Amino acid sequence: MIQFLDLQKITALHGNEIEQAVNRVVASGRYLQGNENKSFEKNYAQYIGTDHAVGVANGLDALILIFRAYIETGVLHPGDEVIVPANTYIASILSVTENRLKPVLVEPDITTLQLSPEKAEKAITPRTKAMLLVHLYGRCAYNADIEHICRQNGLLLIEDNAQAHGCLYTNRRTGSLGNAAAHSFYPGKNLGALGDGGAVTTNDTALADTVRALANYGSSEKYVFRYKGRNSRLDEIQAAILDVKLKYLDQDNMRRKAVAEMYLGGITNPAITLPHVSNFDSHVFHLFPILANHRDNLQKYLRQNGVDTLIHYPVPPHRQKCYREWNRLSFPVTEMIHSKELSLPISPAIADNEVSQVIDLINNWHY
Ligand SMILES: Cc1ncc(COP(=O)(O)O)c(C=O)c1O
Repeated sequence: MIQFLDLQKITALHGNEIEQAVNRVVASGRYLQGNENKSFEKNYAQYIGTDHAVGVANGLDALILIFRAYIETGVLHPGDEVIVPANTYIASILSVTENRLKPVLVEPDITTLQLSPEKAEKAITPRTKAMLLVHLYGRCAYNADIEHICRQNGLLLIEDNAQAHGCLYTNRRTGSLGNAAAHSFYPGKNLGALGDGGAVTTNDTALADTVRALANYGSSEKYVFRYKGRNSRLDEIQAAILDVKLKYLDQDNMRRKAVAEMYLGGITNPAITLPHVSNFDSHVFHLFPILANHRDNLQKYLRQNGVDTLIHYPVPPHRQKCYREWNRLSFPVTEMIHSKELSLPISPAIADNEVSQVIDLINNWHY
């Protein structure tokens, strides 16, 4: 069986170094808020190109804490509107509603599958104060139009970089393009921990300090609580593992790109729409999403022939029970993507012959 994502193999790529790092932390007796976090935060900030990186417990917390910090510092206020893509993972939107801000869902562009700048501009009202830009599937969603819209309208730009570690916009990395960015180190991500993890990156020192305090019960000084905070910390073991994997992130992303090039050059079945790639530097192929009319049939056929795939995502956020109030809204592009999307296996650990096997199977598929 060709797995969608073989985490054992991915970990084994750097297995010895990871084991050494874990053993070092086990022997140290320091499991939280120690030198491993300091080192990873420094290296990750340097890699992304920001002044600060703050390690937190997961990507959802990273997003929640950014909005919360803007509220605590008086930059945002409950009820403010935030532009978010209608086509995203639920976590992006949860972070907005958790803070009693108002998400304004905007359709993606039908070619790039990323937030449409034209539609975002039309959705702006006097109450719009921020845009949450999601680099979905590992493709950079930032461009000159997004930059212009945010600047013209005085919007905060917050990046959800959960799926795009290492992605470039010209010579800058995603995660350094806006006011602040959230990163997830969920095991399956391009930079994945062996458990949960996340980070906030920013050049804004006040924001970084507030996020750090909020993630530590609201405290930056022992037993002094400025905010009603939470406990959201990155374990020392995970920080040590991430520091190892960060060294190989560019190399791992190059392998993902090579796999993507094989798919893009090899899949010729006219029933398949391949992802649109305009610039290989601006895509780190966290996922390789194809679109197919009879998607469920294709998934079944691939499974029967030994290939595991996933759907990202089967039900869009506005059709989820937790957002009942939006269930009747219509977002046709988002709904089309959710009905046709299928993610093919892609990772730094997949072998060329496995990719070729997937390509041949897809080319021989007839509905
Ligand atoms: C786009 C996006 N945002 C946020 C998250 C949340 O990250 P985490 O799972 O670390 O909470 C994820 C991943 O799970 C994601 O894909």
